[in-house]
Amino acid sequence: MSVPQGEFELMRCPPAPSLQAWDAADEMLLRHLDEICILRRDSRVLIVNDGFGALAVALADHRVYAWNDSLLAQHARALNLRANGIEDTGLEYNRDAAFPAAPADVILLKIPKSLALLEQQLYALRERMLPDTRLLAAGMARHIHRSTLDLFEQIIGPTLTTRAVRKARLVLPERDFSLTQGQGPGPGSYTLVLDRDYRIRSHAGLFSRDRLDRGSRMLIEHLPTGDAPLRIVDLGCGSGVVGIAAAALNPRAQLLFSDESYLAVDCARINFEDAFGRARQARFTVDDCLREEADASADLVLVNPPFHQQHSVGDAVAWEMFRQSRRVLETGGGLVIVGNRHLAYHAKLKKLFGNAEVLGSDSKFVVLRASKTL
Ligand SMILES: C[S@@+](CC[C@H](N)C(=O)[O-])C[C@H]1O[C@@H](n2cnc3c(N)ncnc32)[C@H](O)[C@@H]1O
Repeated sequence: MSVPQGEFELMRCPPAPSLQAWDAADEMLLRHLDEICILRRDSRVLIVNDGFGALAVALADHRVYAWNDSLLAQHARALNLRANGIEDTGLEYNRDAAFPAAPADVILLKIPKSLALLEQQLYALRERMLPDTRLLAAGMARHIHRSTLDLFEQIIGPTLTTRAVRKARLVLPERDFSLTQGQGPGPGSYTLVLDRDYRIRSHAGLFSRDRLDRGSRMLIEHLPTGDAPLRIVDLGCGSGVVGIAAAALNPRAQLLFSDESYLAVDCARINFEDAFGRARQARFTVDDCLREEADASADLVLVNPPFHQQHSVGDAVAWEMFRQSRRVLETGGGLVIVGNRHLAYHAKLKKLFGNAEVLGSDSKFVVLRASKTL
């Protein structure tokens, strides 16, 4: 990436050699920042939703706090700082879902795909804006709609947008301090009906926030049921709905909920406690595809894999999830997944496990089980 702040080598995490680790919106934001000369060396810069660390890398010689919901984005940033020989001593970042409490001088916001998440973040950022704080937002033009700009106007104040350059636009709001009303959208919610009703709440920005996804429903319909003390992993847990169903159907099972999203793991924890109270324990980890879990430490892994990373589509994460699942499974244990038929997960599982059984299917989805044999 070549910008006024320097030239940087940037890569994605997980590596995807055919995909770029920054976009025209990052470049535009950094050029604009250079043109308006508002950054001093000791400026406190809050960077929100920096895809693979492009902004943090370019601005590393300021006091940066980088907030990102994605552990993979944080890994990418660390990797890219190292790859460019940059010390990250001035860099702070989140270790949970909470926003930093301190105000900032400059806030750089990459506009997220989810409008509900944007709304929540704008309310949180408004609290961190002092009279001199500048908020500069950017995104690809195709993700910026009238409704996006309305949110800036309603929550922050009068908002200008630039014309699109290489399909990216800046969104430049000015803080109107008379705007003090309102709060972020509450959690979405729906009811999972099993032996009783389970209320599943979901933070803004999480997968299938207001209703049970059709694929997740099919996965739940094919979960094993019984009294065995199984060690069950809900991998890519999102709001935790699949693991909560598995816990309800297997009263003696121990559950691990794992996701690379801080908001997801937070939400799964809240939903699990709501469902079973504090008496039933489970483990909750923010992790990249179970990398931190020991070999042969689970009997059953359940996955509804993602097929998007940020705005791009691919199956690299699903593949890694299957590989790591095989590693953490005990011999005789099983991986049960749901996926779109066209994604051909059957072939992948067969290649990795040597077997793949169809447990159920409809016109769109297929539920598969692969068993770990010796
Ligand atoms: C299709 S959603 C499924 C969510 C939930 N299990 C459900 O069925 O509603 C996929 C989930 O995988 C998570 N994810 C994506 N990449 C991941 C990774 N590298 N490691 C762990 N989880 C990941 C996403 O954050 C998302 O919550």
